Amino acid sequence: MLGARGGWRALRYCSSLPREQRVPAARLRVRDALGAQEEAGEVKVQGWVRSVRSQKEVLFLHINDGSSLESLQVVADPSLECRDLTFGSAVEVQGKLLKSPHKMQNMELRAEAIHVVGPCDTLSFPFKIKERHPLEYVRQFPHLRCRTNAVGALLRIRSEATAAIHSFFQVDNGYVHIHTPIITSNDCEGAGDLFQIETSHEAKEAAEKNHFFNVPTFLTVSGQLHLEVMSGAFTRVFTFGPTFRAENSQSRRHLAEFYMVEAELSFTESLQDIMQVMEDLFKTATSTLFSKCPRDIELFHKYVAPAQKGRLEQMLKNKFVTISYNEAVEILKQASQTFTFKPEWGCDLQTEHEKYLVKHCGEVPVFVINYPYDLKPFYMRDNEDGPQRTVAAVDLLVPGIGELCGGSLREERLPFLESRLQRLGLADTYQWYLDLRKFGSVPHGGFGMGFERYLQYILGVDNIKDVIPFPRFPHSCLL
Ligand code: 4AD
Ligand code: MG
Repeated sequence: MLGARGGWRALRYCSSLPREQRVPAARLRVRDALGAQEEAGEVKVQGWVRSVRSQKEVLFLHINDGSSLESLQVVADPSLECRDLTFGSAVEVQGKLLKSPHKMQNMELRAEAIHVVGPCDTLSFPFKIKERHPLEYVRQFPHLRCRTNAVGALLRIRSEATAAIHSFFQVDNGYVHIHTPIITSNDCEGAGDLFQIETSHEAKEAAEKNHFFNVPTFLTVSGQLHLEVMSGAFTRVFTFGPTFRAENSQSRRHLAEFYMVEAELSFTESLQDIMQVMEDLFKTATSTLFSKCPRDIELFHKYVAPAQKGRLEQMLKNKFVTISYNEAVEILKQASQTFTFKPEWGCDLQTEHEKYLVKHCGEVPVFVINYPYDLKPFYMRDNEDGPQRTVAAVDLLVPGIGELCGGSLREERLPFLESRLQRLGLADTYQWYLDLRKFGSVPHGGFGMGFERYLQYILGVDNIKDVIPFPRFPHSCLL
């Protein structure tokens, strides 16, 4: 009779070969096994079981290790089945990689040994075999949801999109990547509400106002001003990092912590230079994703946003539309629709306005340029089309989302910048920024693109919480 430990081992190790007879096998990722051109002798695949189907003569498993959306089919003798071999368990399968007789798959693994590395309690596991769980449901399990097809696909796309953006700037266009500070004392002039940093000790003694860095510091709302410093030496720079805005918005397109891609270019001729980079970045990253992870993208375009693929392909072929803020206000004034916020020259465009403008232009990405001077931060360049009337600012609006990118030419002329900062009482604080206009100042500009909004748009995902690795969910102590 087997003792308790021996019995346990027997249950977890299912093999037709004695352990000592097994040859060391080459470890293979599922993706590589599926794409293999040739059959292979002794291979080992590790992953999590996505399905188990036991028939009289044969046992079928599907194993996924996160390297691709598709799982690898394992074909085994039913004698290799054991109690712990269930949906969700972690396994190691050793055997031969053979051409599959089935049309739908290239290769399959003929198992000689199956080792259950980690059993799964299927009763309490929140996901069930063969069920397609809605995104709202899986969001409740931030620590487990990466095991589902949709979130797995999303996170692979997110990873590829990150690489595509770095490659667009660094490899294709010679930008230097800069790590801009995450803890900073600059608030980028009201780019958003701030999270202030205190040590836990300071927080307790807030009344004394002893700051760790001597001055109040915040989590960054934008790396722009730091990038402007760097563009004064490297000409073209970018940053791509975490950004924080203390907006407690429960909206479908706002996060308190998100990733922003920001670029800054010196020696710009006009706002068109900046818009061209935005459009090229968007189109290059999107076509790269189409070619690098077609199956993952297809999953979203099949189940989440069915018409999105055609719309994106069309969009990749056409030039983005450009309208001025003046034109935008005229279009809104003439709209038959009534808005909650009445459109008036000098007022900010609200989400309802942005959505209308995109629809009016044919549900395509739209650049809106030249916003009122008083609406925008001090660093934007005066267009001199009247006394402080408009600045060379641009927002890129996309269907279903609204604002995806915001940017501008920066005011490179010392007298203009100095008088604006003086009027705002900020000249002392921004002495260093004024210095940049004294020592080899050049026309320059840049923009920021919200990475999550980009993913939301191309995948057609409604809620921004579904494109981040760890959504904040009430009562979750993981986050
Ligand atoms: O328009 P924003 O505020 O621009 C800036 O911060 C500039 N300083 C960037 C620059 O010129 N270097 O933010 C840029 C983009 C927005 O268009 C939006 O896509 C995204 O960042 N964004 C958010 N995404 C998710 N959650 C939030 N709370 C966001 N706030 C802005
Ligand atoms: Mg903006």
